[in-house]
Amino acid sequence: MMNYRITLLPGDGIGPEIMAVAVDVLKVVGGQFDLNFEFQEAPIGGVAIDATGEPLPAQTLEMCRNSDAVLLAAIGGYKWDNLPRHQRPETGLLGLRAGLGLFANLRPAQILPQLIDASSLKRDIVEGVDIMVVRELTGGVYFGTPKGVFETETGEKRGVNTMAYTESEIDRIARVGFETAQKRGGKLCSVDKANVLEVSQLWRDRVTQLAPEYPDVELSHLYVDNAAMQLVRWPKQFDTIVTGNLFGDILSDAAAMLTGSIGMLPSASLGASGPGVFEPVHGSAPDIAGQDKANPLAQVLSAAMMLRYALEQPVAADKIEKAVLEVLEQGYRTGDIMSEGMKQVGCKEMAEVLLKVLTV
Ligand code: IPM
Ligand code: MG
Repeated sequence: MMNYRITLLPGDGIGPEIMAVAVDVLKVVGGQFDLNFEFQEAPIGGVAIDATGEPLPAQTLEMCRNSDAVLLAAIGGYKWDNLPRHQRPETGLLGLRAGLGLFANLRPAQILPQLIDASSLKRDIVEGVDIMVVRELTGGVYFGTPKGVFETETGEKRGVNTMAYTESEIDRIARVGFETAQKRGGKLCSVDKANVLEVSQLWRDRVTQLAPEYPDVELSHLYVDNAAMQLVRWPKQFDTIVTGNLFGDILSDAAAMLTGSIGMLPSASLGASGPGVFEPVHGSAPDIAGQDKANPLAQVLSAAMMLRYALEQPVAADKIEKAVLEVLEQGYRTGDIMSEGMKQVGCKEMAEVLLKVLTV
């Protein structure tokens, strides 16, 4: 029997509803594979602000550090949108990433044959798309200093953020990119803005210098504007993409939407050591929170990613991923992925059919 301590961060909006489904799935699969999960729950984001005044209470971070992996749902909502920045839910998420040293964010975007008609792009463009975006997560313009709103000599306000990367920050994320490509289709595209930005020129130089260590990986470079265009023009040209924090934020949403619904996509955030954080790519969807409309599948697939990447239980992960495909095959759809002739269900019913598939 393997024992794992998992910190659950359900967060805001639809977070608690979809987290409950993932926990049920883990319990069932745990029973089948002799895995014992010790779940501990902690507040983050808006619920943490309401309870403690802070989006990432020190105790939450401590609990995350003392666990084998962290499963996060989503943070944020209208209620907290106008608070000062240090009290915003997003600041809690950024603090978690920085606090756990999670510099590598893996965001897969894979077209599921069952959902191909949910994509806004034509079938022949998206069929077979399978992209992994490797996004740098603890540096770049999100964290660079100086940052803030300052006053100029004339008394005008001036907002400042700084896009900065050191060589070592570039090297470690580039290596994750190369290694990810090695395990996938063997192609790595590094995305930057080296035609304009010094920080990007350094990025490109470092990535290029590392390439000879990975002779089995075919490396290419794209400027970020071109990469955005290529993603919607002919996404099948991509296998693995490695890029900085801001470009990765933007491109991973675009890549996600190729699949038709951001409601299906998990992600993993990993550091050099210590627990990783596994979370859906989508947000807290406050407009449908508490209405039993949320799609729990990205959360469930995040739990599968956790089993695969953090707990080294690939067989259990496979089982969950196959079950998700099976419920789609059976025609069950939440509102976000609904298409003609399918059976629309809410979050709870989706959970029921999924658990049924897992237990047969
Ligand atoms: C994401 C989100 C976050 C980010 C926000 C909520 C801080 O958009 O995970 O992509 O910008 O990184
Ligand atoms: Mg984003």
